[in-house]
Amino acid sequence: MVRILKKIFQIFFFRPMKELLSFFRKRKASRFENVKKEASVEIVKRLNDVRSLDLGRFLLNVSNEFFLPNLTFIIGGSGVLDYAFLKACALSFKCKTYLEVGTYIGESINIMSEICERCYSVTAGSDSPYYMRSWCKEEDIPNYSEFLAKADNIIHCYCRDSKEFDYDTIRDKIDLYFIDGDHSYLGVKADTEKIWKKSRGDSVIVWHDFKTKGRTAVAQAVYDVLGGEFFEDVFIVDNNICGIYIPKKYQSNLELNSVKFTEERQTLWTYNTQLVIQKI
Ligand SMILES: C[S@@+](CC[C@H](N)C(=O)[O-])C[C@H]1O[C@@H](n2cnc3c(N)ncnc32)[C@H](O)[C@@H]1O
Repeated sequence: MVRILKKIFQIFFFRPMKELLSFFRKRKASRFENVKKEASVEIVKRLNDVRSLDLGRFLLNVSNEFFLPNLTFIIGGSGVLDYAFLKACALSFKCKTYLEVGTYIGESINIMSEICERCYSVTAGSDSPYYMRSWCKEEDIPNYSEFLAKADNIIHCYCRDSKEFDYDTIRDKIDLYFIDGDHSYLGVKADTEKIWKKSRGDSVIVWHDFKTKGRTAVAQAVYDVLGGEFFEDVFIVDNNICGIYIPKKYQSNLELNSVKFTEERQTLWTYNTQLVIQKI
């Protein structure tokens, strides 16, 4: 009898209560995320006006040709001009070591492994809830996780959650970081906090999805970690979706370009593109 009563209590009270609590928790988290996303839009608007890098000129100062191997154009990756920018950063700031938070197919780390001596990947292992298998299932695409992250100079650091990763296990001094893992406000904030603590403002940090018109709260998370003073050294890029922290020592000769409507006939950069198709 007691057992039956317990069962009835579970079905009609305990389970619905649990679901109700989880619903309210999720609603609160989503409201919090939305507030941070709206604040990010305002930050990006301000940066568009005052600290937006002229991408065409930035690339051209490094080279007028960029080879980007093995792009897949599969959803979940970055754009051609994001990758070209990363590569130009490594060449321009003479970065020997690279660390990325978030490796999916491995396009970014594959490109960087051709120029940096050592490339670290801090990403969800196959037993992590953030591993891309379930996302691939939802999108109905094959799971190509890390197909391209195979070069010998790539050091794999798997974790369940980068928010808990111990960066002291990496002894190298990292010259260039790319944060492209957990895109929630709390995820970007935690990754940025940990990397900021390790780099102490002395390394270049690039954030993907910084300029996504309200889809992510990356800009606000970065602002909340770096604070007013160091945020002065954060720039966005006029023609990709990255944000970048550039230490003062690298800031000479940076060409800026305010992003807003104008009738003025400004420089228009174009990129000749050739696709060379191959099977991997
Ligand atoms: C946008 S993709 C990164 C794409 C990558 N730049 C590339 O070219 O392959 C995000 C990656 O971050 C990982 N990720 C997301 N949240 C994470 C978390 N909290 N901890 C560790 N990895 C995470 C995902 O598994 C995914 O592989």
